[in-house]
Amino acid sequence: MRSKNQADIDLIIKQAYDRFMECVSAESKNFDNAKNCLNEILQSLSTINVDSASSLGQRVSTLKSLINQKILVPGKQEETKEGNVDYSQKFAELGARFIQNPTRKFSDLKGMDEIKRNLRATLIYPFVYKDLSREFGISLGGGVLLYGPPGNGKTLLAEAIAGEAGISFIELNPAYLYNEYFGRYEKNIADLFRLTRETAPNLLFLDEVESLIPRRETSDQSVIKRGVTQLLIEINRLMTENTGGTVIVAATNLPWEIDPAMLRPGRFDQKIYVTLPSSLDRLEIIKDQLNKGYYSRDVDASLIAHRTEGFSFADLIYLFKRATQQAFFQSVEKGTKEHIKMDDILNQISLVKRVYSLDLIRKYELFNNQS
Ligand SMILES: Nc1ncnc2c1ncn2[C@@H]1O[C@H](COP(=O)(O)OP(=O)(O)OP(=O)(O)O)[C@@H](O)[C@H]1O
Ligand SMILES: [Mg+2]
Repeated sequence: MRSKNQADIDLIIKQAYDRFMECVSAESKNFDNAKNCLNEILQSLSTINVDSASSLGQRVSTLKSLINQKILVPGKQEETKEGNVDYSQKFAELGARFIQNPTRKFSDLKGMDEIKRNLRATLIYPFVYKDLSREFGISLGGGVLLYGPPGNGKTLLAEAIAGEAGISFIELNPAYLYNEYFGRYEKNIADLFRLTRETAPNLLFLDEVESLIPRRETSDQSVIKRGVTQLLIEINRLMTENTGGTVIVAATNLPWEIDPAMLRPGRFDQKIYVTLPSSLDRLEIIKDQLNKGYYSRDVDASLIAHRTEGFSFADLIYLFKRATQQAFFQSVEKGTKEHIKMDDILNQISLVKRVYSLDLIRKYELFNNQS
């Protein structure tokens, strides 16, 4: 059992920490106020008398050094105004990838017509037709969650939204951002969002968001829980104060593992189910593949589309890759250039494994109906 005294100190540190996060968040609005606020916390911490070798003592000194760093390194605000900051480098320090002018376009993705239309109307056109959207009072940016089985273009879609809107693309690496050392993880998150605000208009891509924002009740690690809280605060802030125009795209194969608070209205207004391709989508990508390779005349795109129900886009591409490798190998063995034949493709269809159970697809549909 801990003594009451320790519990009190624990509470003071927690409150000081929460206050620290508030001050840091206020920094971009008024730097001097933030600095005063940080000094007040330092004073409150100096009233604590605790053994510096104990775990409480270590938490106090870590918090103090975090605050001192913030107070003593005020240059970041001025730096950005000069406009010559190397943001790729700054994002890279947090393990994130920053692409100033992404080139991916919707035309790189087959099918998905309905999804593309939707995204154009809600997220992309406000950036493309800025003056008109201003006249209509439409704000730039917003949150969208993409969910569905693997290999159906969620990541490609996120990149293409940025490419179509003409905004920069930021991709996060959650493993790099994570840090067990007291307060470091939250600080990394706060820094990431500060850089995101500074580089708007842009798109922040949170891939595998269920690992970044897992249900808090299922996690026994307090660092993760505090990280989730911090992320939700930052996302909220970005969505409400979104003056520069930031789109947040989150993607997952496991939407039911995300903390429900993230899915509440105001954070991710659009939740898009990125399904397995329809037969028409499959036909489109199959025809595209047939145009690119050395296929014999008996290859029937409609029959392949019919036989590949349940395949993802990635499975379909893999199927043609395997058939092409097969024909290439036969050509080498026979010493003549062999076409890729319908039989080669049909053989591969039975070999390319489908990883999606009907149960899993039903789970996505249930989530889709509930959200
Ligand atoms: N709509 C599409 N048109 C063309 N190719 C696609 C499409 N969707 C996916 N692909 C192919 O599948 C590969 C995987 O796509 P992507 O990484 O975007 O899927 P994902 O849904 O993000 O998968 P995961 O859930 O595993 O991250 C792509 O590199 C591309 O070759
Ligand atoms: Mg992906």
